[in-house]
Formats: sequence, structure tokens, C-alpha cells
Amino acid sequence: MYSIESLMQSTGVSLYGKAKSLIPGGTQLLSKRPEMFAPDVWPSYYSKAKGCRVWDLDGREFIDMSIMAVGACILGYADDEVDDAVVGALRAGVSSSLNCPEEVKLAEALIELHPWFGMMRYARSGGEAMGMAVRIARAYSKRDTVLFSGYHGWNDWYLAANLADENGLDGQLMPGLEPNGVPRGLAGTAIPFDANNIESLREKVRGQENRIAAIVIEPARGEDAPAGYLKALRELASEIGAVLVFDEITSGFRMCAGGIHRSYGVSPDIAVMAKSMANGYAMAVVMGIEKVMQASQTTFISSTNWTDRIGPVAALATLRKYQREDAAARLIATGNRVKEIWRNCADAHGLGISVSGLPTLAAFAFQSPEPAKLNTLFTIEMLKRGILGFRQCKASLAHGTAELDQYRQAVDEVFGIIAHDREAAGLATPVHHSGFQRLTRE
Ligand SMILES: Cc1ncc(COP(=O)(O)O)c(C=O)c1O
Repeated sequence: MYSIESLMQSTGVSLYGKAKSLIPGGTQLLSKRPEMFAPDVWPSYYSKAKGCRVWDLDGREFIDMSIMAVGACILGYADDEVDDAVVGALRAGVSSSLNCPEEVKLAEALIELHPWFGMMRYARSGGEAMGMAVRIARAYSKRDTVLFSGYHGWNDWYLAANLADENGLDGQLMPGLEPNGVPRGLAGTAIPFDANNIESLREKVRGQENRIAAIVIEPARGEDAPAGYLKALRELASEIGAVLVFDEITSGFRMCAGGIHRSYGVSPDIAVMAKSMANGYAMAVVMGIEKVMQASQTTFISSTNWTDRIGPVAALATLRKYQREDAAARLIATGNRVKEIWRNCADAHGLGISVSGLPTLAAFAFQSPEPAKLNTLFTIEMLKRGILGFRQCKASLAHGTAELDQYRQAVDEVFGIIAHDREAAGLATPVHHSGFQRLTRE
């Protein structure tokens, strides 16, 4: 057990204090801000990560049962096979005046998985790849308006939705995203509709059919889309001549190799993947049908670091291992086990929780008037037990039976404390933040 005092006095907690004076917001990614988990207690920084374990700056070891690098490290941290391939690329030179041949090999491998696509372009992060996809869709259709549901990153095209209506993005996963700095002239160019609701979309389309460049969605986020929804979307996009874009940055590789749409039998015009496609190395792909992708030749899309060798090499090695190890089935089994642990431990202590999400993107919520307090308490008590615990768990191939057994034991103890002994456990530190607002306004 780690004491709360030692966690609060860790080198990581104090370094994060310094970071906030040097880096606005403290981190580069909202989801990695310690305040999202347990302010003043979360270890904040790692010295080493391997498998499903991380070590903080003082050498404390934790099993990661939380966001696993926001889902990027699907095979586990520092996977030997992927890292060996990357080291080979490093030794052979990661950059030169010529291009790396792995770009072409990766395109062939991804087309083999998604034979309805004919071409692809690469980037290195999800948000920029979505920016590229929307640019290509606008260039192809020669129209401006984008209808979307879901979260798609930090770019102007997306935040423009909040220029027209300051609550526009509130139903889209991350409330409170402010559009400061986004040109006001973009107002009205990105219009949200309710996810999984074809009627909401039809309503927004009515009367402006020939202005709509693209319909952009996450084909699955928390749950599978309702039956018939994706097919109806496909038909509507084709009918009005809009490019159908599936953002599979989070859902890709979680339920099958490649895009999750492979398991739904509906193919978009463009699909975008990033995150887990290269097991934590920077890589992103925009793949699509040939006539749409060719439109990227009619606009300017180009960047130096999109040519580095590490991304494609890591993606090829990740794909190879993923397929050989039947990773999808194993990830789904692990995710289902985590959900079962939550349910069983909550039942055993008479604690009200709801469990949701695809097995590999599982989440639970306390049914309580003060969920933020209980979430924070859960995370702190799990940290004391050597586990990065959170109300979400992203399964990886590195989570084995031993880790899951240790997790079950800890969840049982912590749910017991929350159910029976909450006041005694107390909460001496602030509750976690959620969404963007508190982080920007405090
Ligand atoms: C569906 C979706 N789209 C886009 C993004 C943005 O990707 P990135 O954080 O790599 O810029 C994310 C990241 O969480 C995402 O989940």
C-alpha cells in the first residue's frame, strides 16, 4: 500500500505544479491532466512504462487499469515486437531526402483489410487527420457545410460549431470547448446533430441538401450504433452527394483489426484512424475511395513530419502482431471481465453503479448525487493499492489474469469502502474535473 501522504508528496505531483507555470494547462492533452483523475494525488509523470504497468518518478509501480495512454497502446506499453521494428527503423535512418517504402506497404496492408478503399494519406495525430479528411471532403464536393456528431479534435473546422451556438458541442462528448481564436467567419460551417438519430440529421439536412460537403460521425463510441442507423446514414449521404466520413480514431482496432465499420458492414467514403494503429507511436491515416481521395491533389496537404519512418513501421508491426495474436477476441474478453468485476463487486456491497460501453472502452458511473467525489475517492484508494484506477478502463493485450485478479481484489476493497465507510475514508483533496470548462476558467 502507498500512503496518501507519500502520493501527495511525490516528485510527479510537485513537477506538475511547476509544469503549470511553464506549459499552459500543464499538459498537451486534456485527458492526461492529473485534475481529470485525482488533483494533488495522481502521479502525473512516468519514468517507465512496460506491458500494463507504469512507474512514477519515485519508482512506485502501478498497474494501469485506466485509460492506457488514451487507448493508444492496445498491445501494451513498450511492446517488444513493435519497439524492435522501430529500433530497426531508427538504425536505418528515420528521415532522409527520399521517402520510406513502408508508406506503400502500409497502404497495401490497410487496403487488404478495407478493400472498398483505394487510396490513403498519412498524418501523425488524430485531430490533424480529421482536419485533412474534412478538407478533402470539401475539396471533392466543392461545398462548405459539415454536419457532424461526436468528438473530432481541436481544429477550427470542428470548434466552428460553437461560434454559431455556444452550447453546440455540449452533446458531443466534451462540453465547454471554447471557440476563441476560431475565425467568426466560420460560423455556420459545422453543424452538430444528435448521434445515432437519423431524424435529427434529416432535419438539419432539409433545405440545404446541396450545401453539405460531408457528414462526419464516430460510427461507435460508447456503444454500437443502433441497427439500421449507419445504413440510413450511408443512403442519405449518397442521396445528397455528401462525403460520408467515419472517425474511427478511438474505435479503430478496439473490436477488430482496422476500422470498426468492418464489423458493421457499412462502408464510408473516408475513414480516419490514429491512436492504437501504431501502439503509441505517432501515426494517423485518412483512407478513402479513390475518386474522393484524388481530391487531395486539388488542394494543398503536405507536412515534413508526415514522412518520418517510425509511424508506418510501428503501424505495420502493430498490425502484424494484432492479427497473429487474435488480439480483438482477447481484448474483448479482457474488457468483458473488467465490466463483470465492476458489476460483481458493486452488487456484493450493495453499491449503485451503471456499467456501459463497448467491452474494450468500458466505463462505470456511480449512481449518487456526488459522483465526482466518489470517482475521486475511487481513484485515490486504487492508487494506494498500486493501481491507476479510473471510471473508464481501456483493455490492452498486456492485461493478463494476474493483473485482473489483483484488480478484482482492489475494486472489491474500494467499493466496500465507498459503500460502507465513505465518511471515514474522507476526501482531503479536491474532486476531479471533467470537461474543459473548469480547467480553462480556474
Ligand atoms: C473520435 C476522435 N476523433 C479525434 C480525436 C483527436 O485525436 P488526437 O487526440 O490524436 O488529435 C480523438 C481523440 O480522442 C477521438 O477520440
